[in-house]
Amino acid sequence: MNIKSLMNQMTIEEKIGQLLQIAPFFFIKELDIEVSGHVNTLSMTHQKIFSSGSVLGIGNAEEMIQVQTKYLQENRHKIPLMFMADIIHGYETIFPVPLALSCSWNPGLVKNVARISALEAQTSGIHVTFSPMVDLVRDPRWGRVVESFGEDPYLHEVYAKAMVEGYQNEDIKKVGHIASCVKHFAAYGLSEAGRDYNTVDLSRVSLHNQFLPGYKAAIDAGARLIMTAFNVLDGIPSTVNQYLLRDVLRKTWKFQGVTISDYDSLHQVIAHGCAKDDYEAAYRGISAGLDIEMASLCYVNHLKTIISEGKISCDLLDEAVERVLTLKNDLGLFENPFKGADPNLAKALVRSEKHLDFSRKVAHESMVLLKNDGILPLKQQKVALLGLYATSRETNGPWSWHGKNDLNASLEEALIAAGIQVCYVQRQEDPNQIPKEDYPMIESADVIVIAIGEHTKQSGEAHSRSILEIPFEQDKLIHDAQRFNKPIVTLLYNGRPLILESIQSSNAILETWFSGSMGNHAIADLLNGNINPSGKLTMSFPRNVGQIPIYYNHLNTGRPQVLGVQNEYVSYYLDVSNQPLYPFGYGLSYSNFKYQSIQLSKNQMTKNETLSLEVQITNDSDRGGYEVVQLYLRDVVAYISRPVMELKGFKKIWFSPHETKVVSFDIHHDMLSYRNEYGEDVFEYGTFKAMVGSDSLHVLSTDFDFVKE
Ligand code: BGC
Repeated sequence: MNIKSLMNQMTIEEKIGQLLQIAPFFFIKELDIEVSGHVNTLSMTHQKIFSSGSVLGIGNAEEMIQVQTKYLQENRHKIPLMFMADIIHGYETIFPVPLALSCSWNPGLVKNVARISALEAQTSGIHVTFSPMVDLVRDPRWGRVVESFGEDPYLHEVYAKAMVEGYQNEDIKKVGHIASCVKHFAAYGLSEAGRDYNTVDLSRVSLHNQFLPGYKAAIDAGARLIMTAFNVLDGIPSTVNQYLLRDVLRKTWKFQGVTISDYDSLHQVIAHGCAKDDYEAAYRGISAGLDIEMASLCYVNHLKTIISEGKISCDLLDEAVERVLTLKNDLGLFENPFKGADPNLAKALVRSEKHLDFSRKVAHESMVLLKNDGILPLKQQKVALLGLYATSRETNGPWSWHGKNDLNASLEEALIAAGIQVCYVQRQEDPNQIPKEDYPMIESADVIVIAIGEHTKQSGEAHSRSILEIPFEQDKLIHDAQRFNKPIVTLLYNGRPLILESIQSSNAILETWFSGSMGNHAIADLLNGNINPSGKLTMSFPRNVGQIPIYYNHLNTGRPQVLGVQNEYVSYYLDVSNQPLYPFGYGLSYSNFKYQSIQLSKNQMTKNETLSLEVQITNDSDRGGYEVVQLYLRDVVAYISRPVMELKGFKKIWFSPHETKVVSFDIHHDMLSYRNEYGEDVFEYGTFKAMVGSDSLHVLSTDFDFVKE
């Protein structure tokens, strides 16, 4: 398709239409998908609807074909609609939520999650997914931490690349490949006090070093779209923020793809107090370089006037429209507007056995064993199963619109299928009460397994919480169950780090998150020992809400607390330690890994050299298992204060029973730079600390100098 000549034939209204994204029900009233916000209250003319450019959300192939057919009948130039949707952690085969995925420390696995999600989603004619979300997070009160890869910039880079490559698979023209829209640009994860949609305020140094690398990695991996965030940055809403959208994105990163607002976020510039009305919002949006507006009508109702009054040149509009049409062309939609939509293929592919098996494997690697005094794995013991999640099938978690929880196995079914002897299952109305008449059955068990957690709707968008103890007082059940004097294994189903002090009396705690279609089967595999846990946390678990924000890669402060040294006037709390309950990188295994003798090839390096760091690790157990070996660096002295440690590499390695391996990492100069407030790379010579360990608290360390050639 020759985009330029197509644009020459388009009226200004038709061009502006390409920048509008609306829901399917505008085209066919019966497709009544939940619509909220401003757009719902405004009527749209027939002409505007049938010149809009893209659709938000679609149920299945039949619906897509219906909408596209009707649209093409009405659209003068037969420009196909582009269909976008939130395919976040699977389409119908649901994988663990992104926070859980990140705990696998396995980018190859996560890439394949995106690949399978794309293969399934394309069967309903979805061309673009609003994923990955690479908003770095530090506050578990924010419900959307469930969609994030946690608190570390390097992990965000690694997973952003993996997901974009998985969705797009190099050539988005091919059937089965979908375009990736990275979000939410920028720093939405820092919503103040963990309250969704709240203000964000941070320094440019933090922005460039901590918050931007994830989005940049997605762009470098070829992500074709980027979504703006709801929040302000430097007081300016991201959706109309020229620094972000022009200076950083277009000028510095050379991004050529499409920018899209978040849901209604262009109109919300008014509520931020940065535009008087939709007219001003439209003016600020197009001036800043926002291409598509999702679910609001600022452009469609005002851009024509803004251009005719000479406030902006028509070139700005043309640039945006050209980017949108180019994306449609690159997706192959002009040749095949129904690309991918195929009910028969959907039947064969969607939720296939192969995909479900893979989802089970991903769930194995995503769960994190937080505590184990030796009770796990179970050894032929009889199990009494208690708690809200004993019989529930709700393992899909938030952002899984196309997934169906009722097709998932309950924990009870999964344990039985795995050959675990279940002698009692709690089934009464109040899940926190153990009925007296059930006591004898529980007494006949060897182990009590208690499955508790959050409700699916307690995390995700608009689901912030200020109290992070286990909800609905489910921890009472654990205390009550102690009357039986049996070992207690607690399984947690949740979407964020919770406060777990009150359940420390459990003999074992397994963080299972919301682990997708095969979650309960995966739990059973870990409990009976068929699979050895290997997941490690990517977000710190605080001891109480007062410690938040808590993250491992913080600055040192001028008065750091030194453990073991008594001093009143240092940075600490009177009533709680500075350390989290479970640190970043933490997770147990049924194996026991011992780290010894860290060694560097030399104790200094220049810009052209690479240092090799070696550490000896032994699996001191009879059980084979994976260990995630983590490399951290610290820039000891620099012009700006640098974090006490930063993840720079990791390796997930298999160890046979009693095997010793020497694991090595290369340290090169790219790992030693930081970014200044302008986003420029800065290298400073001096001493660095290299640390290797099984988590961010337990490391071996050594120093080296970065020197001039
Ligand atoms: C969310 C986005 C999402 C969009 C479309 C918004 O409310 O913030 O993450 O992609 O809706 O569903």
